[in-house]
Amino acid sequence: MKLLRSFLSFFLGFLLIFFAPSAMARFAVEKNSLTVTSPENIKGTHDSAIGNFGIPQYGGTMAGNVVFPKDNQKGCKEFDEFGISFKSKPGALPFIVLLDRGNCFFALKVWNAQKAGASAVLVADDIDENLITMDTPEEDGSAAKYIENITIPSALVEKSFGEKLKNAIRGGDMVNVNLDWREAVPHPDARVEYELWTNSNDECGVKCDMLMEFLKDFKGAAQILEKGGYTQFTPHYITWYCPQAFTLSKQCKSQCINHGRYCAPDPEQDFSSGYDGKDVVVENLRQLCVFKVANETKKPWVWWDYVTDFQIRCPMKEKKYNKECADAVINSLGLDLKKIERCMGDPNADSENLVLKEEQDAQIGKGSRGDVTILPTLVVNNRQYRGKLEKGAVAKAICSGFEETTEPAVCLSSDVETNECLNNNGGCWQDKAANITACKDTFRGRLCECPLLDGVQFKGDGYTTCEASGPGRCKINNGGCWHEAQNGHAFTACSDNGKVKCQCPAGFKGDGVKSCEDIDECEEKKACQCPECSCKNTWGSYNCSCSGDLLYIKDHDTCISKTASQQGKSAWAALWIIFVGLVVATGGAYLVYKYRIRSYMDSEIRAIMAQYMPLDSQEGVVNHVNEERA
Ligand SMILES: *[C@@H]1O[C@H](CO)[C@@H](O)[C@H](O)[C@H]1NC(C)=O
Ligand SMILES: *[C@@H]1O[C@H](CO)[C@@H](O)[C@H](O)[C@H]1NC(C)=O
Ligand SMILES: *[C@@H]1O[C@H](CO)[C@@H](O)[C@H](O)[C@H]1NC(C)=O
Ligand SMILES: *[C@@H]1O[C@H](CO)[C@@H](O)[C@H](O)[C@H]1NC(C)=O
Repeated sequence: MKLLRSFLSFFLGFLLIFFAPSAMARFAVEKNSLTVTSPENIKGTHDSAIGNFGIPQYGGTMAGNVVFPKDNQKGCKEFDEFGISFKSKPGALPFIVLLDRGNCFFALKVWNAQKAGASAVLVADDIDENLITMDTPEEDGSAAKYIENITIPSALVEKSFGEKLKNAIRGGDMVNVNLDWREAVPHPDARVEYELWTNSNDECGVKCDMLMEFLKDFKGAAQILEKGGYTQFTPHYITWYCPQAFTLSKQCKSQCINHGRYCAPDPEQDFSSGYDGKDVVVENLRQLCVFKVANETKKPWVWWDYVTDFQIRCPMKEKKYNKECADAVINSLGLDLKKIERCMGDPNADSENLVLKEEQDAQIGKGSRGDVTILPTLVVNNRQYRGKLEKGAVAKAICSGFEETTEPAVCLSSDVETNECLNNNGGCWQDKAANITACKDTFRGRLCECPLLDGVQFKGDGYTTCEASGPGRCKINNGGCWHEAQNGHAFTACSDNGKVKCQCPAGFKGDGVKSCEDIDECEEKKACQCPECSCKNTWGSYNCSCSGDLLYIKDHDTCISKTASQQGKSAWAALWIIFVGLVVATGGAYLVYKYRIRSYMDSEIRAIMAQYMPLDSQEGVVNHVNEERA
């Protein structure tokens, strides 16, 4: 209990000191504009705050018919229960549903409205205040399931404006509005600058899963935009610092590097087990340095490959979230490991780390952008993006940041052609000799996946190893085993059903993978050693011949006379004699045996009878005996 209390007070201090400045600072609410086109008396343009879920139509507009349901006005229950549907007839304006704030998560209201057919949702605030951003509920597993599926945009409107809309609807007016996201992202020039505030921690539940999924999905588009010079992307990582008074505490030591200067929360929120916050800070720092080094070589997009590969190859779940695994990823991407290490510096040093210091400074909002406090956060042209972190939605937001008519073709067409496997094989496994590769070019960027070739599945991690497995594996490149052909004779060390992957065939020795050498059977006295034999080694075998008119029998490794038929006859004769002899001997033995048994039984029976027939016995027995003697 005492421990818990001291932990709590520590954490409170932690939170207060870390978050106090940002709580006082500005959190920018991203807005889209909403124009009422009818009825006449409430015509005009208003701000609305874009919800942090669903898919806002960045760069686009949506005209719709506002409805305010008679029942379930807060939208916390399914509209089905009330027999309400917002599905619009074909050709009619879509329905934009107005709901009251309160009683349940914003996201749940929007989800219920979407299920009933709404095209967008406006939530009317229930207090007079400045607009706020509707965020997703944190750490709520059940909410996460539907939040993922929210595809309609949503926005919060001020209480007074909400009342106006409701009154107009109650009065029987048809209320039409135009939602406009075109000014949500400034679009000053032909290049979009955007940043993603991210985290290497892959074990924080729903939010981490969503971020990891987004990185994988968006990689392809991000790389195309970056390579084409259309965008300048910068990754960022949030770090906190430990309050001075706590730098020597156990908690700060496990959460922070550089003597409490840079910290991350413990991934499992358990100080005593698993990975510590400082492991996360170190990996975040590595990812920053990967970006810096890649950027220096004018290939900043390699960062996307690194973070997605690291996520696949080095997950915390498999206890691979460490330097060794990270270095393997760095090497396979052809990045300069030494430079990255130099950039990272010494995490134990009692001094600032320039890279992380820069990140801390960048967290504080400037210009039109507010402080970064939500992870992940995407910032496009210095405006925080609101909405679902999803490939299509983010692409829309980025594309809306180009000055009109300067947007790249990627923004206009969904199908994009590049082959990232052509460059260094995408950092994936390959067998150059056999022209087999694990690199797959997809619309999500390149994937490293062991291939399926002629019905034979390769297995491995796709980055450093892939091996043909299962039946038929020898058909493909001899299963990676040694093979060679000489003078029309071909040998392979691969066998389909052997337990050992590669084993030199008979007549060869070696590891079976790189080499198998011919065994000189003559030299090693393995065969053909009989006095009449003359041995000649061949590749993979040997040739034995016998002197004179003898014939070599390979199975027995011996020479025999060619006039085998004569020998055969005499052998038969000998066998016959032995057989007859055996029969005679057996017969004789049987007769002797029979006789012995009989005489034994006779004497036994007589002895027994003598016991039970005592009267005339004596004599009889004696007589008998006498008779026998006679
Ligand atoms: C969300 O969508 C997925 C795929 O379309 C579906 O399998 C899942 O059941 C949906 N979740 C909810 C809560 O409707
Ligand atoms: C990346 O490189 C470009 C120039 O090549 C530079 O302008 C930019 O500041 C660099 N970004 C970072 C984060 O170092
Ligand atoms: C390797 O295979 C691909 C298709 O599988 C083919 O297009 C390419 O020409 C081959 N390269 C060589 C060197 O055989
Ligand atoms: C083995 O030697 C015999 C006789 O010299 C010859 O006929 C035969 O072709 C040889 N076989 C091989 C495999 O060299």
